[in-house]
Amino acid sequence: MEKIYKILCVDDEDFNLDLLETILSPLGYELLTAQSGKAALETLTARHVDLVLLDINMPEMDGYEVCGKIKSDPQTRHIPVIMITSLDSRDNKLRSIEAGADEFLGKPLDQSELLLRVKNILAARDYEDTFTYLIHALARTSEANDMDTGNHILRVGEYSAIIARELGMPEKFIETIRLQATLHDMGKVHIPSHILKKDGRLNESEMEEVKKHSAFGAMIIGDHPRLAFGKRIALSHHEKWDGTGYPTGLKGEEIPLEARIVAIADCYDALRNSRIYKPRYDHWAACKVITEGDGRLQPEHFDPQILAIFKRIEPMFAALYDKLKDAPTVNGNPLH
Ligand SMILES: [Fe+2]
Ligand SMILES: [Fe+2]
Repeated sequence: MEKIYKILCVDDEDFNLDLLETILSPLGYELLTAQSGKAALETLTARHVDLVLLDINMPEMDGYEVCGKIKSDPQTRHIPVIMITSLDSRDNKLRSIEAGADEFLGKPLDQSELLLRVKNILAARDYEDTFTYLIHALARTSEANDMDTGNHILRVGEYSAIIARELGMPEKFIETIRLQATLHDMGKVHIPSHILKKDGRLNESEMEEVKKHSAFGAMIIGDHPRLAFGKRIALSHHEKWDGTGYPTGLKGEEIPLEARIVAIADCYDALRNSRIYKPRYDHWAACKVITEGDGRLQPEHFDPQILAIFKRIEPMFAALYDKLKDAPTVNGNPLH
């Protein structure tokens, strides 16, 4: 079945909304309309929307402010926004870019230009959605063999994004780490399941087997430039700041930043999860192990700057864990 795209048109003037409807509806797009910024934001929280066409000049909340709000909300920032600006206004275009708009169109609207922009931006969005879907599907395959669940993988991506934001990394880095951190344990598909699911501590040779998952992960992810980030994470997320990690024993800033971030995110979540041989830690117990050590794990294993951020924002980790908690299970089977 063909997907019907929903386009939200935001303009305070009926005439402009009617015009957009006349141009777009015959082509099979479903149009939603809002006559103010406030109404647009309400629609976006209540309905699925694929694209926003946004007028700049509106009373109360103007288009820049609406766009800024759409792009700063994690629930809506992926929705593309086309700003409709007055013709030839360089200032309007610059302010649209600053507000996070994906495209702009000049007024009066040129019908063929509008249709082309809408078609292209929806195609680009579809491509990105498919890419995200496939990364998550790939990441989920690593669970088949392991005790981790899909939500562990998603949580690690989310914690990593929070740390990256606190570090002041650009939006592109934050989005990439959120998605590609989910691939960190990809290589576990190559590790025998009886080792990963063993009821008890691993012996030395089993531990050596498990350690191979870093290199296997990097090998599976391969050499596509768009996945280079995920490959570095898979390869180096068990390296430690003091040089005692694996597979290479990299030290300090030799370890890629994205892998240093995922190391602490993965560690926190692993501590919160129960394994066959270890109980679930509560938030405070997990924080204590990370910040004070427990014999096996030491604070020196982590990048000190990232550890300081963790100490500052650990309540956000607790909130995220609760929000993305795994469904309750009975004997490992999900409850429905
Ligand atoms: Fe791992
Ligand atoms: Fe993990």
